Amino acid sequence: MKRKVTKAVFPVAGLGTRFLPATKSIPKEIMTLVDRPLIQYAIDEARAAGIKEFIFVTSRGKGALEDYFDLAPVLESALRKKGKDDLLEILKATNMESGAIAYIRQHKAMGLGHAVWCARRLIGNEPFAVMLPDDVIAADKPCLQQMVEAYEETGANMVAAMEVPRDRTNAYGILDVDRDMGDKVLVKGMVEKPEIGKAPSNLAVIGRYILTPKVLQNLNRMKQGAGGEIQLTDAIAEEIGGQGVYGFRFKGQRFDCGSKAGFLQATVSFALARPELHDELMQYLSETVAQREAAE
Ligand code: UTP
Repeated sequence: MKRKVTKAVFPVAGLGTRFLPATKSIPKEIMTLVDRPLIQYAIDEARAAGIKEFIFVTSRGKGALEDYFDLAPVLESALRKKGKDDLLEILKATNMESGAIAYIRQHKAMGLGHAVWCARRLIGNEPFAVMLPDDVIAADKPCLQQMVEAYEETGANMVAAMEVPRDRTNAYGILDVDRDMGDKVLVKGMVEKPEIGKAPSNLAVIGRYILTPKVLQNLNRMKQGAGGEIQLTDAIAEEIGGQGVYGFRFKGQRFDCGSKAGFLQATVSFALARPELHDELMQYLSETVAQREAAE
């Protein structure tokens, strides 16, 4: 019988250099889209997919992330005294059941594969999800939930995939497709950041994975792959001839919040989706665009 996916790894040990100087003192994952930090979007998505154990791979300077999921007794009692029940309700989303969340350190940023490997003892011998909080996905049914449902049919490794422009393939892990079944594609190869023009397709891997424990064993004996880092893609690709790898075309819009442009687009999009912000922001945007166009 296939094991249910109840554990998720959140690799958040990267340096976040693209957001310096902000990330000098705040973790990238605490940066906010409207009023919620990136990590909250990832946690909510994981919960919706049935995840019960949340494993964070962190590094020096990520203390704010741990505090975020802690109780805040002083703040809560102040809000209670003021009768701010609505705000107390909002805070509830940050409460994690005792023991549901674990932190492990990656002592040196040696790549995504290495970060996942650091969590191996907490994962044990069962399938697990990996979620990169930089990738925020707006979807009717949360992306990881779509993937867990698809995984229940296949029992094989699964990576979230989306079509990207041909001139952007060098920024992603790209899938070489064996069989295209629509939402699922059977994969016969994976290339990390191929040169433009040399990519086997334009189907790119983004930051949601469901992996079998065999991938951890592969990471165990990984040599250093592309760019001197231990690549998760390489450890997954080793399973192509083994337990199999599927790409999953999720339904939804992905924002690359690891980049400034992506973060700004996500901010506008999530703000426009809020009824209380929509009209004011829409008016500002259209006036600003009209003014810029007139000036150019
Ligand atoms: P990125 O490639 O976005 O790197 O990592 P980064 O350090 O976060 O950001 P930049 O490029 O310097 O701006 C993708 C994901 O993998 C994690 C990151 O925290 C992020 O969630 N990661 C990366 C690790 O946990 N450890 C690593 O060694 C590398």
